[in-house]
Amino acid sequence: MVQIKIFDTTLRDGEQSPGVNLNQLEKLEIAKQLERLGVDIMEAGFPASSQGDFEAVRKIAQTIKNSSVTALARAKKSDIDIAWEALKDAKEPRLHVFLATSPIHMEYKLKKTPEEVIDIAVEMVSYAKQRFTHVEWSAEDASRSDLKFLATIIEKVIDAGATVINLPDTVGYTTPKEYGEMFLYIKENVPNINKASLSCHCHDDLGMAVANSIAAIENGATQIEGTINGIGERAGNAALEEIAVALTIRNDFYPYTTNLVLKEIKRSSDLISKFTGMAVPGNKAVVGRNAFAHESGIHQDGVLKNASTYEIITPELVGIQSNNLVLGKHSGRHAFKDRIVQLGYQLPEEKLAEAFKAFKLLTDRKKEVTDDDLFTILTDIQTDV
Ligand code: KIV
Ligand code: ZN
Repeated sequence: MVQIKIFDTTLRDGEQSPGVNLNQLEKLEIAKQLERLGVDIMEAGFPASSQGDFEAVRKIAQTIKNSSVTALARAKKSDIDIAWEALKDAKEPRLHVFLATSPIHMEYKLKKTPEEVIDIAVEMVSYAKQRFTHVEWSAEDASRSDLKFLATIIEKVIDAGATVINLPDTVGYTTPKEYGEMFLYIKENVPNINKASLSCHCHDDLGMAVANSIAAIENGATQIEGTINGIGERAGNAALEEIAVALTIRNDFYPYTTNLVLKEIKRSSDLISKFTGMAVPGNKAVVGRNAFAHESGIHQDGVLKNASTYEIITPELVGIQSNNLVLGKHSGRHAFKDRIVQLGYQLPEEKLAEAFKAFKLLTDRKKEVTDDDLFTILTDIQTDV
């Protein structure tokens, strides 16, 4: 099994979700939960972005001992200095410094030539190495960069001391095959690549962030960056809980393992949703309200006989108490009877048939029939002697 490091950026890229603003206490609570979840590295913030973020990163760096804490810096000495001040008390301080490498970013955003970009990247990585042992360098917009240029700049930043090279799909533009091939190209065309490890960082604009991340590890990346619930800029980042569960459930196929404690997933998801104010969509994989809910009679009948007929993940694996058979218009008699027995009712066959008829009538008017509705139906039927 190949060990894949999980780099969580919920507190940095996740906090960049439009409308999200976490205070220091909320960030600290989330950091403690991420530590329980077992992330290898957590990106606690972007200290140069505000005094509040600086304080939050400093507090997290002082508190968290079982995950390594990192923070973001632009390729500027002042950002690196501020990040050092925030991170210096961490058990294993790490810097994450980035610079764009795509023609579109270099020309319009940075207004620099490719040669100037190489010089800045090398100078800033060397500068960061004066303080940090671990320096991750990200080629922002790597997936839209020229591969030959990418290989050249990566070789130079590794010589300058970068220990991790991250190749982000910043705008969620790439596809699994193409993203995987980029990692392969870099592995095969950067002579000193073995002195650093490769990391992937995917955004979800085309809904492929998780698939792209898996393609990256299949082609040599040993670190995955992402967020819990997939929150982040625009359409968000790769959802770490989906990746970790996919690698676990499909370990017949994927030879990869992570340190994530899967039963902490639900609690992490709930906490982050509460503090960010970003509701988890009902149909979200792994943590959505409906991820372990079954409504149709055929599915409910199968699940009651053997849950694995329609569930590939057990709810307990990710810290959810049990699955949920939702009573609605597609539900059948088997699930209905099972629920009322759970509620403590023992009805003779003809009363059961009567109750089921009343339940079916109600489902035409109501999407989901609750235990309170069942109580009303059953009370009417029992008193009707
Ligand atoms: O998406 C991105 O390119 C980033 C970088 C700062 C790593 O978040
Ligand atoms: Zn990002």
